[in-house]
Amino acid sequence: MKALVYGGPGKKSWAEVPTPTIKNPTDVIVRLDTTTICGSDLHILKGDVPAVTPGRILGHEGVGHITEVGSSITSFKVGDRVLISCIKSCGSCPNCKIGLYSHCLGEEGVSGIGWVFGHLIDGTQAEYVRVPYAENSLYILPESVSDEEGVMLSDIYPTGFEIGVQYGGVKPGDVVAVIGAGPVGLAAIATAGLYGAAKIIAIDLDSNRLEKSREFGATDTVQSGTADWKNNVMALTDGTGVDVAIEAVGVPDTFTMATEIVRPGGHVANIGVHGKAVPLHLESLWIQNIFISMGLVNTNTTPMLLKLVESKKLPAAKMVTHRFSFDQFLEAYDTFSRAAETKALKVIIAR
Ligand SMILES: NC(=O)c1ccc[n+]([C@@H]2O[C@H](COP(=O)([O-])OP(=O)(O)OC[C@H]3O[C@@H](n4cnc5c(N)ncnc54)[C@H](O)[C@@H]3O)[C@@H](O)[C@H]2O)c1
Ligand SMILES: [Zn+2]
Ligand SMILES: [Zn+2]
Repeated sequence: MKALVYGGPGKKSWAEVPTPTIKNPTDVIVRLDTTTICGSDLHILKGDVPAVTPGRILGHEGVGHITEVGSSITSFKVGDRVLISCIKSCGSCPNCKIGLYSHCLGEEGVSGIGWVFGHLIDGTQAEYVRVPYAENSLYILPESVSDEEGVMLSDIYPTGFEIGVQYGGVKPGDVVAVIGAGPVGLAAIATAGLYGAAKIIAIDLDSNRLEKSREFGATDTVQSGTADWKNNVMALTDGTGVDVAIEAVGVPDTFTMATEIVRPGGHVANIGVHGKAVPLHLESLWIQNIFISMGLVNTNTTPMLLKLVESKKLPAAKMVTHRFSFDQFLEAYDTFSRAAETKALKVIIAR
């Protein structure tokens, strides 16, 4: 089969590799119909994630059909159309039992790390993928949910909702700011309304992304990178700051920005993956009674989000800006990696 193979920092190829086979009774083989590229894949290609070694097939998002099931699989059969979650989940370890799939203790990849696809085991940017712990890591896609909608639930929608909105404790009437209106920030914007946010302020440097954020439910937008960005945010609150500030970029500045606009007693929810040390000014923050949260997505809310996509209550397909075929994979990467120029949000790669 063909797959997108990491060749070390800066190197990748659409190469011929062996087709995966069942290794464990709990495995399933999925023939991918639709996949996409995540910002994390670009981080890997820069060499920011040293755990990814040359030869690894990238990708952790996908929709496809089952072609083979392991001997202990009872919930799925050959031919089922499924959504692949970006997080492995054995379903039986102490962490899985409490819904903390991000720290599944199953041996696959590394025990204690839920994100294994395209990281510690071969991923979904391929014609076929082996899915470990398939009983708890796959979801049947209803016919009315398109592949493109489904693939938005592998990673970005659960991430924006769980780590942004739920960890941020959004509640009815809140003023919520989301810093970074990329796919993950937009997913947080789209799901903040589920808990009754009164105002959702999108903050970004890129005016195109700010414009897009309104389609996902942002009520207000603030361009950052200007001297008065903070005053502009404060003017949209009662003057004391936002109730919840969600960071969806992953650089030190934007985390600091979140702490500067949150009101006393409010929440800062960090979603961004940080590669550099981030200053935390406890000397000034301690007296503000702020809750700070962070984490890796669990994808335990996927079944709920799937219902909302099915009933067209979440704008999942709106995330798609570009479409490619499997043999155009390198072109898809090129378009996605130049998002500021190409206005790419999510690029779809499909058969
Ligand atoms: N915690 C998790 O489980 C998890 C899962 C998936 C992704 N992530 C992380 O979430 C973050 C967002 O992902 P994405 O795919 O949406 O990223 P992205 O790069 O597509 O979007 C980031 C957005 O931030 C904006 N931005 C950059 N610098 C800014 C600044 N100084 N001020 C305001 N806006 C700024 C960019 O213009 C862009 O629109 C990344 O760090 C990603 O690694 C975390
Ligand atoms: Zn991802
Ligand atoms: Zn587990």
